[in-house]
Amino acid sequence: MTVPPTPAPTDPPAPAAQMTAAADVAARVVGLRKTYGRGEAVVRALDDVTLELRSGEFTAVMGPSGSGKSTLMHMCAALDRPDEGEVWIGDTEIGRLGDKALTLLRREEIGFVFQSFNLVPTLTAEENVLLPLSIAGRRPDPEWFDAVVDTVGLRERLGHKPNELSGGQVQRVAVARALVSRPRIVFADEPTGNLDSRSGAEVLRLLRGAVDDHGQTVVMVTHDPVAAAYCDRVVFLADGRVVDELRAPDRDAVLEIMTRMTDAGEASA
Ligand SMILES: Nc1ncnc2c1ncn2[C@@H]1O[C@H](COP(=O)(O)OP(=O)(O)O)[C@@H](O)[C@H]1O
Ligand SMILES: [Mg+2]
Repeated sequence: MTVPPTPAPTDPPAPAAQMTAAADVAARVVGLRKTYGRGEAVVRALDDVTLELRSGEFTAVMGPSGSGKSTLMHMCAALDRPDEGEVWIGDTEIGRLGDKALTLLRREEIGFVFQSFNLVPTLTAEENVLLPLSIAGRRPDPEWFDAVVDTVGLRERLGHKPNELSGGQVQRVAVARALVSRPRIVFADEPTGNLDSRSGAEVLRLLRGAVDDHGQTVVMVTHDPVAAAYCDRVVFLADGRVVDELRAPDRDAVLEIMTRMTDAGEASA
């Protein structure tokens, strides 16, 4: 007869063990609130949002139009300041930074892919990609620049201006521009929103590769459950609040939550 093994002593988990170690957190927001307008016209764009974005993860932010997704991206990327709450990039709480330090942090640590691309029309693809570094007075790491350009498949198009590029190519320039300074974290606001599915898939593979091959951290707003399925995690916003979350999402699980949210929205409307 075998003696049952003595159970290992089980210590109650220390509270700290339940928190992600600071080094693993690329960005964090705590109790974020942001309103626009006043009086009758006041809009609560973010209403007490707390969220941790782990290093080396690809996160999707989803939610109905007007739920606060872009506002959240802008706050996280230090493009705008919240009314209340904290935004941490790595170990830095950006509310305490002055404008100069904030500009520096944005330049060094954060990449942003805008919903509207924001390329400079008079510059070539190459110049647009290198623009953040030029502004910072930094030279690109040639190997990394080559890696980014090849990954986005823009080698043949580097000399072209935005109006000489397809929508997919323009968006890939915008992604390359966000990646080229090797930021700690990249925010992308509907980067595939205006693309056909093939170009969209290229951009998604590119973002996925930035995470898998280069350990970057990417946060992407999307309306597309297929795009969300490229991510490690999906965070759902409604009316400026985090209402749900999914890990290792697949298209059907995302769709199910989207449907549930739409039903709930209609029921409360
Ligand atoms: N600059 C602004 N001025 C006034 N209202 C704004 C402004 N930006 C966003 N809003 C409002 O805040 C809410 C959230 O907007 P946004 O973050 O853009 O949502 P989403 O990206 O999810 O569509 C919306 O009701 C929007 O109309
Ligand atoms: Mg938006």
